[in-house]
Amino acid sequence: MKIAIVGTGYVGLVSGACFAEMGVDVTCVDINSEKIEGLKQGIIPIYEPGLKNIVIRNYEADRLHFTTSLPSVLNDMEIIFIAVGTPSDEEGNANLSYVMTVANTIADHMEKPLLIVTKSTVPVGTSYQIREVIRKRLDERGLQELNFDVASNPEFLKEGAAVNDFMSPDRVVVGVENKGAEELMSKLYHPFLLNNFRVIFMDILSSEMTKYASNAMLATRISFMNDIANLCELVGADVNMVRRGMGSDSRIGRSFLYPGCGYGGSCFPKDIRAIMKVGEDVGYEMKVIKAVEEVNNSQKAILFHKFSRYFNSDIKGKTVAVWGLAFKPETDDMRDAPSLTLIESLLEAGVSVRAYDPAAMQEARKYMDSKIYYATDIYDAANEADALIVPTEWKEFRLPNWSILKKIMNNHLVIDGRNIYNKEDLASYGFEYRGIGQK
Ligand SMILES: NC(=O)c1ccc[n+]([C@@H]2O[C@H](COP(=O)([O-])OP(=O)(O)OC[C@H]3O[C@@H](n4cnc5c(N)ncnc54)[C@H](O)[C@@H]3O)[C@@H](O)[C@H]2O)c1
Repeated sequence: MKIAIVGTGYVGLVSGACFAEMGVDVTCVDINSEKIEGLKQGIIPIYEPGLKNIVIRNYEADRLHFTTSLPSVLNDMEIIFIAVGTPSDEEGNANLSYVMTVANTIADHMEKPLLIVTKSTVPVGTSYQIREVIRKRLDERGLQELNFDVASNPEFLKEGAAVNDFMSPDRVVVGVENKGAEELMSKLYHPFLLNNFRVIFMDILSSEMTKYASNAMLATRISFMNDIANLCELVGADVNMVRRGMGSDSRIGRSFLYPGCGYGGSCFPKDIRAIMKVGEDVGYEMKVIKAVEEVNNSQKAILFHKFSRYFNSDIKGKTVAVWGLAFKPETDDMRDAPSLTLIESLLEAGVSVRAYDPAAMQEARKYMDSKIYYATDIYDAANEADALIVPTEWKEFRLPNWSILKKIMNNHLVIDGRNIYNKEDLASYGFEYRGIGQK
């Protein structure tokens, strides 16, 4: 089987490499020529555990190819996946311009029947829009007889565990309109699900909605727990115990019940905004989702407030060590990261920032340039700092040498945005501790 994946980012590259690993002949297409040239030389543009080996192995085996030219490969393919970005526009709508550019390129160069699958996260109805654009152009080109299908196949992989998620998905959701498309997609996903075929076929609109509904549910759990955590602090309860007590109920479950300093990343914030816009467009207000976003926005400010409160707002001229810049561990992605909200407030208040992240230092420079100090490791970041703040729970932060930190820091305050430390433990080393949702 020959497929092309258009958009070689977190989703496109992981999907392409994993399909190739199963024996599919895959061409990854991207307009970024630097990225494509780098990939041909084994340079992986993102940090994603396990990805490099798969990409190099399949490229060398001639099953994975890279190009900047969709027209040159289009008519060799059976399936074209669209996996380009769908960021928020100024009003919060999903910006579909990248998706539509790809649809137009397909429309301009298609000569044979194809299955065009939307993998990007898109508002309900987008696959039909793609179909319309292509149909119109084919008709203009005098190709009225040329038939094609569209399908929706939203992606559920998590950055940081993307290869694993793609190789062993909980489920694969596919929206189709006919048996032919269903059979082709079954064939493609069959190798991933040999023992338990977990592809859920449905209509296209429901498939597009499933992706937004899933992300909205996960974001809701996070904001819900952050709300509970804030209340715990005010009434003297410990959210860690509450979480364990709640999560043991099989109807609730343990996942996604961790309070923290808010969700970020390339998906939840924009998808939450986009589903609200989808509602607005049809005259329906998504009240729960609106509250989810409001809680998240205030939660992202919580680390700064804890720091400022500790010093009675007298923070100008202080120095803070920030451990963790990526929006979560095991990725270098900083889109909408809570660390950015924190650092922006610190800088505005005249506080110096010494930051360290195991994977996102290069990415951080794109956002903050020379406004902060880029430390070489956690101890360099903490040197002479008045406080240590942890927005991201990388494993290497979990058991630092507190005795060294005690010596090198000016003042011994730890603000833990992910509840990875123990208050009593830190007190034994002479540190003051502030977590989320704890006394
Ligand atoms: N990142 C995730 O964890 C994740 C998970 C599930 C779904 N998604 C969704 O998948 C989609 C892609 O996300 P991503 O994080 O991989 O994006 P990304 O920004 O990492 O990658 C998008 C790529 O598309 C390329 N591109 C843009 N226009 C193009 C064109 N006309 N032709 C070819 N390439 C083009 C860009 O150069 C870029 O390399 C989004 O809709 C996102 O919401 C992302």
